[in-house]
Amino acid sequence: GKGWTQMTGQLRLDDLLQRYCETAPHALAVAAAVDAIAAAAIEIADLIASGDLADASGLTTGRNSDGDVQRNLDVQADAILRRCLGTLSIAALASEEMREAQIVDRDGRICVAIDPLDGSSNIDINMTVGTIFSILPAPDDLSLAFHQRGSAQLAAGFVTYGPQTSLVLTLGDGVDVFTLDRKAGCFRLARSGVQISEACEEFAINTSNRRHWDPPVRAFIDECLAGIEGPANHDFNMRWIGSLVAEAYRILTRGGVFLYPSDARPGYGDGRLRLVYEAHPMAYIIEQAGGSASTGRERILELSAQSLHQRVPLIMGSINEVRRVEELHCDPL
Ligand code: AHG
Ligand code: MN
Ligand code: MN
Ligand code: MN
Repeated sequence: GKGWTQMTGQLRLDDLLQRYCETAPHALAVAAAVDAIAAAAIEIADLIASGDLADASGLTTGRNSDGDVQRNLDVQADAILRRCLGTLSIAALASEEMREAQIVDRDGRICVAIDPLDGSSNIDINMTVGTIFSILPAPDDLSLAFHQRGSAQLAAGFVTYGPQTSLVLTLGDGVDVFTLDRKAGCFRLARSGVQISEACEEFAINTSNRRHWDPPVRAFIDECLAGIEGPANHDFNMRWIGSLVAEAYRILTRGGVFLYPSDARPGYGDGRLRLVYEAHPMAYIIEQAGGSASTGRERILELSAQSLHQRVPLIMGSINEVRRVEELHCDPL
């Protein structure tokens, strides 16, 4: 059956946040941040839906400090989120599009890290893109705000701007999916208690990099390709969307495994994805949904970043497949 409870859409995100506010000392601050991100997401969704009409298509504006090409929308989404979060008491803020983390309010209880626009190479082809966020407690020494372990996260989520705009959220007690009600201008609970299927029938990896992969990753994908004739003992389908958010949404819906491993290309020694605002929040969500997230050698949530834009190999999804990738790393063929 489905790995979640189908909801009627009666419960709104703000109702749920209201209930959550009473659960812990930091909960009010977390709820306010999620609420602000949801408001920003509604604006970003509108902008994306307007495409060329709002100058929100693929135009390139420059490069960010991490070396990525910046599209118009990367910059606009970053500005919208920072404006919406700007009215709150947040201790520190970090974004893919900012060189360094910003200390905002020394009295703030939480720190927020964002990937304002994920999958930006998909903007100009009208494919799903997203926003990812991670909420951490404010440490006494704010210079350490984004050097905490992933397991310290208080909440994490992402938004997918696809045929539907959906917000996937964990507040540390399971995973819920909210769908944007465009007429009412609010998010409504659509799925509650999402659980990732153990039956994994799809793998996702950028196969164009095959010649650069390490032997354990090659071995794993060879097993997927061998299907029923290999040790996996069943066939796989393949998907690659180019947006981490869309891959994660698919895996939450029907299982599967996603890999962005390290490879031998210059600059890809730790893969492509960034630990603080991509891998940490995704790992938290995937684990909260009963899945697993690993570098192949270590659990993602055990890691802490040495630098803000640090990359990390990411293998996530159905638990048995992630375990199999880890086995192949311990015991290369
Ligand atoms: P971003 O657009 O935020 O820089 O992230 C893009 C990431 C991720 O969403 C996706 O999984 C991956 O880059 C795509 O990589 P390829 O270009 O190798 O397909
Ligand atoms: Mn980027
Ligand atoms: Mn991204
Ligand atoms: Mn991005």
